[in-house]
Amino acid sequence: MTLSFSRSDLPADFLFGTATSSYQIEGHAYGGAGPTHWDTFAATPGNVVNAENGARGCDHYHRWAEDLDLIQAGGFDVYRFSLSWARVMPDGVAVNPEGLDFYDRLIDGMLERGLKPAATLYHWELPAALSDLGGWRNRDVAQWFGDFTAAIMGRIGDRVWSAAPINEPWCVSWLSHFMGVHAPGLRDIRAAARAMHHVMLAHGTATQVMRGLGMSNLGAVCNLEYAQPADDSPEAAKVAAIYDAIYNRFFLSGIFKGRYPQEVIDGLGEHMPEGWQDDMALISQPVDWCGLNYYTRKLIGPAPGPWPGLEEVEGPLPKTEMGWEIYPEGLYHFLTTTARDFTGDLPLHVTENGMAAPDRLVDGAVQDDDRIAYVDAHVGAVRRAIDEGVPVKGYYVWSLMDNFEWALGFDKRFGLVRVDFDSLERLPKASYHALAAALSRS
Ligand code: FCB
Repeated sequence: MTLSFSRSDLPADFLFGTATSSYQIEGHAYGGAGPTHWDTFAATPGNVVNAENGARGCDHYHRWAEDLDLIQAGGFDVYRFSLSWARVMPDGVAVNPEGLDFYDRLIDGMLERGLKPAATLYHWELPAALSDLGGWRNRDVAQWFGDFTAAIMGRIGDRVWSAAPINEPWCVSWLSHFMGVHAPGLRDIRAAARAMHHVMLAHGTATQVMRGLGMSNLGAVCNLEYAQPADDSPEAAKVAAIYDAIYNRFFLSGIFKGRYPQEVIDGLGEHMPEGWQDDMALISQPVDWCGLNYYTRKLIGPAPGPWPGLEEVEGPLPKTEMGWEIYPEGLYHFLTTTARDFTGDLPLHVTENGMAAPDRLVDGAVQDDDRIAYVDAHVGAVRRAIDEGVPVKGYYVWSLMDNFEWALGFDKRFGLVRVDFDSLERLPKASYHALAAALSRS
């Protein structure tokens, strides 16, 4: 199976990339990194499938050169990766020189291969010592994060192509503090309200620190999920709008408009940290681009109980191995509405998109046609948006290789490259080859 597009079907300056994150691939046990809240969350029975963790990951810490070779050989322009806070500051405060050296080598390795380094400062592994102090519930987290930003960007900031402070503020706050699905695994509305605001404050603080270092091409990366009412009732319409406000608009509106949706503030009520309004100028300082991570839609219906009073309803569309419906129209929707309602002429990048699949190894190869079709359909949505004048400038596949998929352990394979988790050998799948072919066709 091949992809239906070539480079020339997209604007000349359009960038293709692939993405990973530090805790999911590096091997957190190596190089003097300190414990993170994901290590402790995973060590607590029932939180992660098979109680797996990121201690070994894909051993990218030692195999990074081979991994960068794969990205280069695939014809990608951009490598979106993340920086582990606990590798750079094992106790959340003191700098680990080995950590700085690792990222220094990695950045130079990307530049040597002609890849644009797109750095994310926080892709979820908070140092355990800072979690002990309340983590994202503690307002001081913004300053701690600013100190981390200064330490790592003081070393590599002169060579990164783009930087974003936070990957997916909704996951950092709501999924992790209200739904309890990710570390630190809380189910507490007050913790969630505080985390939602503090993660925005950390975004603003880190952006300010990076501007102070003279860095440019700074962005914000949000995950967006299309919230569709489960039926035609006014009740379903109402709760789908609340879901959209919590999930999508809270963060986009905070960063790009300097205000939060009123329906979320009404719902969170007195749980918001005192004086949050005074932080909105810092949070909404200008950025240079916006990244959208997009995977699926959700059907939302009303549920009994306190605010937000909603639940997810299973949808009828074909699903990925995650149980997520395949819905490329949602990506088109978000590209057009994000530009229309929030970002205007700012460049948009699809900073994550991809699917988990069973990916059977047959005769030494993985023929992942479903992933090829998924990428094709979503790049199609990008092309539609571009045709209508939306300034989409890049599309990055999640993920370069199979890795630690958080609470689902190593079970869910998202990679363009298969990883054998016994030998750690890498094997490019058919999707990798299809992309390499499409990207080399002019
Ligand atoms: C995103 C995360 C990424 C990966 C994909 C499947 O929400 O940013 O780390 O887990 O989902």
